[in-house]
Amino acid sequence: MNTQLIDGKQIALEIKDEQKKAAEALSLKGVQPGLAVILVGDNSASKVYVSNKKKACEYVGIKSFSYELPTETSEEELLELIHTLNHDKCVHGILVQLPLPKHMDEQKVIMAISPLKDVDGFHPYNVGALSIGLNGLVSCTPAGVIELLKRSNVTIQGKNCVIIGRSNIVGKPVSLLLLREHGTVTICHSKTQNLELILQQADIVVAAVGIAKFIKGHQLKEGAVVIDVGMNRDENGKLCGDVDFDSCQGIASQITPVPGGVGPMTIAMLMHNCIRATKNQEG
Ligand code: GUN
Repeated sequence: MNTQLIDGKQIALEIKDEQKKAAEALSLKGVQPGLAVILVGDNSASKVYVSNKKKACEYVGIKSFSYELPTETSEEELLELIHTLNHDKCVHGILVQLPLPKHMDEQKVIMAISPLKDVDGFHPYNVGALSIGLNGLVSCTPAGVIELLKRSNVTIQGKNCVIIGRSNIVGKPVSLLLLREHGTVTICHSKTQNLELILQQADIVVAAVGIAKFIKGHQLKEGAVVIDVGMNRDENGKLCGDVDFDSCQGIASQITPVPGGVGPMTIAMLMHNCIRATKNQEG
């Protein structure tokens, strides 16, 4: 079997170009999409993520409003800022970069964001909407997984989809999205028995367990499609996924690399959500 690479970088660029066209169409109507990006503290990884998000905004034509607050900022001050942005007509999306400093209650902060501006799709309103099939904002990485599959011409309907990992930010929402696409969904986790037997039935595997090279090629069914959401360091400090990429060659039909697979899709889907939120708010 010839294993094909799913090029997340290329697909993410296609999506950003589509969103750029949508932003141009909005600007002809006198609307510029706006995204407020809030970073509290000086987590170096968060700074890189936020900077990449702002660059993507510039590329697409979304105005970004940047708020870099010191670690000592009180929860009340942050909630006040979110309240102001919720009522700001130039701001269509609000993103609070996580993690927040320990003295803040993340859930309380997320719940303060208007669900209409919740471009991360983390607000319980949007999570609930997804679970009952309503058309809310869907969180970016899970939405990116589905886009990768669709744009690689992978049929989801009727297929055995096995998700390894049950986190609120990836495993659970990916499961709901695959179910929405009419997949037959199994969620596995650290307590799952006979994981190998379940994996052998999988037409589509989504790995989101957070353990370097946890899944090996010999555990897969011949022709399985593998989406690797993991972002780990191997024994040599090199970036790697939850799947042992090399051992899947010749067994998987399609596979995402790490880096360059799911990673770039998260920001592309954030751009997609910003445009969608803008359209929803501007009627
Ligand atoms: N921190 C790590 N990933 C994310 C994300 O997708 N959104 C936000 N807001 N913070 C994060």
